[in-house]
Amino acid sequence: MGILTKIELSSPDVSLSEQAFSRLRDFIYRQTGIYFPDNKKYFLENRLYQRLKALKLKDFDTYVHNIQNGLMNGELQHLINQITVNETFFFRNEAQLEALERGVFPPLLEQARHRPGRVVRIWSAACSTGEEPYTIAILLREKFRHLLADIRLEILATDINSQVIQKAQQGYYREYAVRKIAPEWLQRYFRPHGNFFQIVPEIRRMVHFRQMNLVDRLAMQQIRGMDVIICANVLLYFDERSKRQVVNSLYDSLNPGGYLLLGYSESLYGISHAFKPVHFSKTILYKKECHYA
Ligand SMILES: C[S@@+](CC[C@H](N)C(=O)[O-])C[C@H]1O[C@@H](n2cnc3c(N)ncnc32)[C@H](O)[C@@H]1O
Repeated sequence: MGILTKIELSSPDVSLSEQAFSRLRDFIYRQTGIYFPDNKKYFLENRLYQRLKALKLKDFDTYVHNIQNGLMNGELQHLINQITVNETFFFRNEAQLEALERGVFPPLLEQARHRPGRVVRIWSAACSTGEEPYTIAILLREKFRHLLADIRLEILATDINSQVIQKAQQGYYREYAVRKIAPEWLQRYFRPHGNFFQIVPEIRRMVHFRQMNLVDRLAMQQIRGMDVIICANVLLYFDERSKRQVVNSLYDSLNPGGYLLLGYSESLYGISHAFKPVHFSKTILYKKECHYA
């Protein structure tokens, strides 16, 4: 049964040859920074079979040739939407959220009251369907409501996948995504909607979503003045070269004294020495040091 399902999905006569895989992998890498090792060939084949069907193409060679040569209008975005892994959920990284709540937000929000413009900027740089930036918004609303009145809070959330950005803006979530939210917060910040929970407008309005590619240097140069950047569970899909490029860009986007947060199993080891690792209970955040001497 398992074998039958696989054959039906990937179709025996539509397989990705080694050569087409290698060309496709290089193309995806150049466009997104995502590197597919040899053992991910079947992942690509299964995910992109849908595109072959939709475009009524007879084989992967044609698909790869057409996409490499820009012969299919708008196909790059479809490709990206198919191949990215968008797993996420609310309150995913407890230790990190605790570090933000106890160690980062109190001084940041306090100092921001004395800044010109009183602005605090937070960026979820690979936000998927929005659970991560909305988690930050809920945390701030719950724990720092009194300080928020005095500052201008901007939460930017970006992702390369256009479909997840649309979903994030709509803000409907299944039970799986909200399973770690405390019941009273779930009640306060979500409205049940059939099988879904919709985030309330009060939180939705706090986050500004935009499609953006982390390896697009020009787009990255536009983002400056961030106090906290969360770039979690995305660099693990990149090779070292694109990791370095993205981390350097994120460094430039941060204010001196700002923090970079990675995913639970990620670190800057071997990638960058520019940040100072700051240890909190069960987690490490990366600080861009202030160099005012
Ligand atoms: C596994 S999700 C992580 C979501 C969230 N940060 C978390 O940790 O729960 C990875 C996200 O990175 C996005 N992504 C992959 N490559 C990207 C790139 N080059 N630029 C921006 N986002 C990218 C994917 O579309 C996907 O939504």
